[in-house]
Amino acid sequence: MPPHVRPATVADIPATLEIYNHAVLHTTASYDLEAVSLETRLAWFDHKQAGGWPVLVLEQGDEVVGWATYGPFRDKPGYAATVEHSVYIRDGLRGAGLGRMLMLALIADATARDFHIMVGGVDAENADSLAFHARSGFVQVAHFRQVGRKFGRWLDLAFLQRVLDGGN
Ligand SMILES: CC(C)(COP(=O)(O)OP(=O)(O)OC[C@H]1O[C@@H](n2cnc3c(N)ncnc32)[C@H](O)[C@@H]1OP(=O)(O)O)[C@@H](O)C(=O)NCCC(=O)NCCS
Repeated sequence: MPPHVRPATVADIPATLEIYNHAVLHTTASYDLEAVSLETRLAWFDHKQAGGWPVLVLEQGDEVVGWATYGPFRDKPGYAATVEHSVYIRDGLRGAGLGRMLMLALIADATARDFHIMVGGVDAENADSLAFHARSGFVQVAHFRQVGRKFGRWLDLAFLQRVLDGGN
């Protein structure tokens, strides 16, 4: 079967966690500092499901090779039309159009649910993600200096946003 996007099930969580933990341990894509346990990730998935937030996976040849999600941007009710997302593709499979498939599915889901703005927080060193987001219609709106610390150095965080519904 060609690569396709579908909602995650609990059985997908170990594969999505492996993809995520590789990025945690080797990159600044996530500001988690240590590998996340399966127990913590399963609780995260439960929380996502209870809140009605999508967790999508990209399946290729019976293997989960990417995942994506979105959820609240900030808690106060006035932010309710804004969501913040994450997208991760397995190391070694990037640059082949898989991230785009997940991003298009996330944007379609959020647009169908009448969210207005999608925000991404991207480490300013993460050139792949900055380019990917630019190609996905996001514009950078903020650059926070030294708000993160990992691998013994301060990290800058960029915020990017995309309008989902044309500004209605
Ligand atoms: C960011 C990430 C999800 C992109 O996924 P991907 O599968 O590599 O991206 P795609 O191949 O689908 O690329 C989609 C578009 O982005 C562009 N793009 C992706 N990576 C790029 C790069 N390094 N340089 C320039 N353009 C890039 C592609 O050229 C493509 O544009 P096009 O259709 O006009 O050619 C992937 O690199 C990844 O998982 N990185 C590690 C985790 C991460 O950083 N996640 C984001 C956290 S904020």
